[in-house]
Amino acid sequence: MILAAAVTIFIFILFVASFRNGQTATAKSQGLGSTKHFNEPGAAIAPKLGNETAKAELGRAAWKVLHTTFARFPDKPTQDESEALRSYIHLFQRLYPCGDCASHFGELLKKFPPQVSSRSAAAAWGCHVHNQVNKRLKKDMFDCANIGDFYDCGCAKDEKEEKDSKIKDKGKGKRNH
Ligand SMILES: Cc1cc2nc3c(=O)[nH]c(=O)nc-3n(C[C@H](O)[C@H](O)[C@H](O)COP(=O)(O)OP(=O)(O)OC[C@H]3O[C@@H](n4cnc5c(N)ncnc54)[C@H](O)[C@@H]3O)c2cc1C
Ligand SMILES: *[C@@H]1O[C@H](CO)[C@@H](O)[C@H](O)[C@H]1NC(C)=O
Repeated sequence: MILAAAVTIFIFILFVASFRNGQTATAKSQGLGSTKHFNEPGAAIAPKLGNETAKAELGRAAWKVLHTTFARFPDKPTQDESEALRSYIHLFQRLYPCGDCASHFGELLKKFPPQVSSRSAAAAWGCHVHNQVNKRLKKDMFDCANIGDFYDCGCAKDEKEEKDSKIKDKGKGKRNH
């Protein structure tokens, strides 16, 4: 009698355990709870963008966001910050609203993986991949030696102001933000 009860409980535990494993396996196969797919380029999600005017406007705005992001990335990022940038670039590629551009860009990322070890590495990498797109579209090459000045959006000034205000706050003995 007791043995029968013990066996029943044991089988029940096995059943619950296998059900749980099954769920985890399904979640993994759907990419849920896994960041693996942020570490590589992937299939475009948006449809093809046929309107050439819209495509060019979007491109100018997108390059500005990307280059400015690299110009403001830390000189000495933490590992977490570097991984954030790598994931961002890969998701940016997959979700880019011009699907045909996203497919081309995915191929470029395979050839030239994002460089995320420092601000200068990221900025030089960004300039390089933009030039690869320029080449394919038969546009002028950009001189990447000028990249530092070109996207200097007054960032150095912001940093100085932030430091100054921190010093002021310390003087007051409290922080207002
Ligand atoms: C990820 C991505 C993929 C794209 N793929 C396609 C595509 O497949 N087909 C398509 O038709 N369009 C594509 N575009 C859009 C295309 O790259 C241009 O943005 C668009 O054609 C407008 O070009 P533009 O001549 O005005 O200058 P843009 O190339 O948009 O550049 C804007 C400004 O950035 C500066 N610049 C130029 N080169 C560099 C560089 N190497 N580094 C830093 N700054 C630079 C210049 O001042 C330039 O005026 C893509 C855009 C992005 C962001
Ligand atoms: C193409 O896009 C531009 C810019 O967004 C827009 O002004 C124009 O009306 C669009 N053309 C067509 C045919 O939809």
